[in-house]
Amino acid sequence: MAHIELDCPASVKKQLAKVFEVSLRTTVPDERDVVPSVDACAAKSGVKFADYQCNNAMGIFAKIKGKQSGFRGPPAVGQAIVKNLPQSEMIESCSVAGPGFVNIVLSKKWIAERLERLLIDGIDNWAPRLPVKTVLVDFSSPNVAKEMHVGHLRSTIIGDTLARMLEFCRPETLIRRNHLGDWGTQFGMLIAHLFDTFPNPEDFNETAIGDLQAFYKASKVRFDNEPEFKQRAHLSVVRLQSGEEVYRKAWERICDISKAEFEKVYQRLGVVLEAKGESYYNDLIPPTLDKLDKLGLIQEDDGARVIFVEGANIPIIAVKRDGGYNYSSTDIASLWYRLNVEKVEWNIYVTDVGQWQHFDMLFKAFRRAGWLPKDENEFPKCTHVGFGLVLGEDGKRFRTRSSDTIRLVELLDEAKKRCKASLLERDAVKDWTDDEIEKTAEAVGYGAVKYADLRINRLTNYTFSFDQMLNDKGNTAVYLQYAHARICSIMRKSGKDIEEIKKNGKIVLDHEDERALGLHLIQFPEVFEESLTNLLPNVLCEYLYNLTEIFTKKFYTNCQVVGSAEETSRLLLCEATLIVMRQCFDLLGIVPVYRL
Ligand code: ARG
Repeated sequence: MAHIELDCPASVKKQLAKVFEVSLRTTVPDERDVVPSVDACAAKSGVKFADYQCNNAMGIFAKIKGKQSGFRGPPAVGQAIVKNLPQSEMIESCSVAGPGFVNIVLSKKWIAERLERLLIDGIDNWAPRLPVKTVLVDFSSPNVAKEMHVGHLRSTIIGDTLARMLEFCRPETLIRRNHLGDWGTQFGMLIAHLFDTFPNPEDFNETAIGDLQAFYKASKVRFDNEPEFKQRAHLSVVRLQSGEEVYRKAWERICDISKAEFEKVYQRLGVVLEAKGESYYNDLIPPTLDKLDKLGLIQEDDGARVIFVEGANIPIIAVKRDGGYNYSSTDIASLWYRLNVEKVEWNIYVTDVGQWQHFDMLFKAFRRAGWLPKDENEFPKCTHVGFGLVLGEDGKRFRTRSSDTIRLVELLDEAKKRCKASLLERDAVKDWTDDEIEKTAEAVGYGAVKYADLRINRLTNYTFSFDQMLNDKGNTAVYLQYAHARICSIMRKSGKDIEEIKKNGKIVLDHEDERALGLHLIQFPEVFEESLTNLLPNVLCEYLYNLTEIFTKKFYTNCQVVGSAEETSRLLLCEATLIVMRQCFDLLGIVPVYRL
């Protein structure tokens, strides 16, 4: 099910649907509610009979059967649809096949013209428009002092791509929100342990605390085993919450150290986030719960204050039995803030699928309160984007060799290290500068980690394997990077100034593989639209992979570029391919490399 409707004038599919709509109105004037159904044809065992097909004839016949229609069967309806088509420069020919499908062959002249326009206008003109002005993506959102694990890495990678996709549509405001877990009872034990370890507050700094995860573990062990410490930890939470200066300072220090750690991951991945941690909403929780109470949503349940929502057998715990707040209390306050202060119209949360119920109940409570429209499809709306687990090659939850928590920085560095090692094995890099080798290893290594995650449907679990993701054959970022670099090298070898040829060069698509490449390129807008409306980056990955395959295995294998009679047209086709490839890379957060 699509999450939103986009305005996407560059979609070939939508343009064809408009043409067919005209025909449908003439063919069955009384059936006003028939909507044109046009789809790109899928290749059957590598062969395509047409570019697109219109599938309305069968449905229409089923509707009008029995009425005085004069049609003998769906194929006859198909014939009429073809006959009633208005003149269109998009279409070369149409034919009716099988039970009434209308097969559509696009005009190659029209395809070529669209590509020429792309070269001149740039790809921004192919972006759809969002139906809203302010969008927020809540992603990454690790927990201070606890851990930033591969689940957060998935959230960071998927969330960043969704944010990039939304950005491409140029909304007025896009917020990339890091809902940091910077509050909670864990700070009690951390602070107590900190005070024990460093009686002089001046002494605690990054280097002194060192590994925050080890520090967390040590304090947890004490919390679980030393009753006296546990009591002090509880007391520390109270003193922190009441705003006592030294406690606040200690809390800030811990947060700062953690944030610096997270930043290292973001910096490697080229991800930008705006942090507003859970602590930001502390003061907002009581008044927000008050409003819900006035609306009659809050009730007592075994000492806790809870909200029941339809379809869930457990309630949302808004206030715990001990009077404290929790994850849900904060999300209630932060969602209220986003809707009312930040005026967010589309609020997207990217977390593992395990949190589905938490968000489902949250959104239902807001609907019950009348704070979100009853109809889920109306704006303002909230969407939970879930993803599956990361598995190791043993099929179990992913863990690194030695420790049970994963150091994401080390993981990313490992990808880079492996890329660098395989680069250095090659003769081609002899004349490269150290800087170029570093940059290339980063682009390929980090890109590979991202792509391996993004190419899988996010709802499924995925297996983390360096060997697989760094393979230069198959559906990997490394393979895509090689293809991109190869096209760049073709351009260099031609010795031509592409900006010059662009001005009045013409694209001709006479060879079937030129045409196949051209067709795939102009399908970018509709694939992007599908990928964004369903919030599924894997759809875009599949498109990019197919583009690369068509270029490499068809076009480049069968159509000589440099030195051929068609050189100008083919160079333009290469350039159009580069534009679309780079746009895909950019949306996926991958930095393209220009030689490899
Ligand atoms: N910190 C949470 C976690 O690690 C994710 C937060 C997601 N965002 C939110 N608004 N609840 O699971």
